[in-house]
Amino acid sequence: MTMTSQIVGCGAYLPERVVDNDELSKRVDTTNEWIFSRTGIRERRIAADGELTSDLAFEASKKALESAGIGADEVDLIVLGTTTPDKTFPATATAVQRMLGLKNGAAFDVQAVCSGFIYSLAVADNFVKAGQARTALVIGAETFSRILDWEDRATCVLFGDGAGAVVLRGSEAEAAGPDGHGRNSARGILSTHLHSDGRYSDLLYVDGGPSSTRTVGHVRMRGREVFRHAVSNLSAVIEEALDANGMQSSDIDWVVPHQANKRILDATVRKLGLPPERVVTTLERHANTSAASVPLALDEAVRDGRVQPGNLVLLEAMGGGFTWGACLIRW
Ligand code: ACO
Repeated sequence: MTMTSQIVGCGAYLPERVVDNDELSKRVDTTNEWIFSRTGIRERRIAADGELTSDLAFEASKKALESAGIGADEVDLIVLGTTTPDKTFPATATAVQRMLGLKNGAAFDVQAVCSGFIYSLAVADNFVKAGQARTALVIGAETFSRILDWEDRATCVLFGDGAGAVVLRGSEAEAAGPDGHGRNSARGILSTHLHSDGRYSDLLYVDGGPSSTRTVGHVRMRGREVFRHAVSNLSAVIEEALDANGMQSSDIDWVVPHQANKRILDATVRKLGLPPERVVTTLERHANTSAASVPLALDEAVRDGRVQPGNLVLLEAMGGGFTWGACLIRW
């Protein structure tokens, strides 16, 4: 017997306020046409004053637990990916733990910017497979609007706020070997693949922090260079995930990518030879919600019935650091 981990519930939450490109064009020198043609974004959600990352995370978590049919008291691990925590400390995950009325188990944040959900899922998957947790809440939540320079048109148009969560459950199963074609025949999370390369931190970063400037700072980015690295790193990590499971891109039913830019998504799937219809895209309505983007898109595709039991689902993301990663799931 071996421990497997399976996603048994998903949830998402978006703040009420919708800010479209026309509204932004009143604030900075830009147009709906420029933003949509370069990025694929039409609108984004922005958290209300006083609405915190933990509030968004809590709402998404409640929905994930509800869809799993699992009581909060069964959760023994909370891993929350965020770059916009409520406070420098304590971890936002502990605020969610408190809001859920829990006092047992472990709760902590993971900082991997836009790859935060994939990193958090990998951490939780390893905890579950090692037998150190049984029911994990894995969350990606951001109030990215709080670290944007609203006078910098090159960055402020790209991001939005939101949260997504999944419930990961461990169970014992017969060890599954390869099928007749050499493909991993297991169910649940098949494998996770994480990478980082700190040499590129000056291409995408925040120009502040408690130890350096004692301020929160704002996002700074060299968009063109980030774009180039994103396409090559994402293609490589997807190939790595497929190879590790004896699979090919044609085996994938759904790609649920980090929603950074429509052109990054198109270039990545073109490189893999995948049809664009297999890519779950929420970018137009959500913009880039950093760690929240993958679980927000996953929730949508599960709820509208696109993702079905037995489907092979690929999650991928890349973000500041650089950090990047992928996860293959047999749903
Ligand atoms: N409206 C109008 N003009 C703009 C805007 C705007 N909102 N933003 C920038 N411009 C101008 C620039 O000032 C520049 O003008 P100039 O030629 O007079 O100097 C011109 O547009 C071209 O700027 P570039 O940055 O070269 O434009 P590019 O075609 O590369 O598109 C973009 C910019 C959309 C940021 C693109 O590079 C990109 O998507 N990069 C990926 C970055 C990304 O998605 N990051 C998210 C975080 S990382 C991640 O999640 C993977």
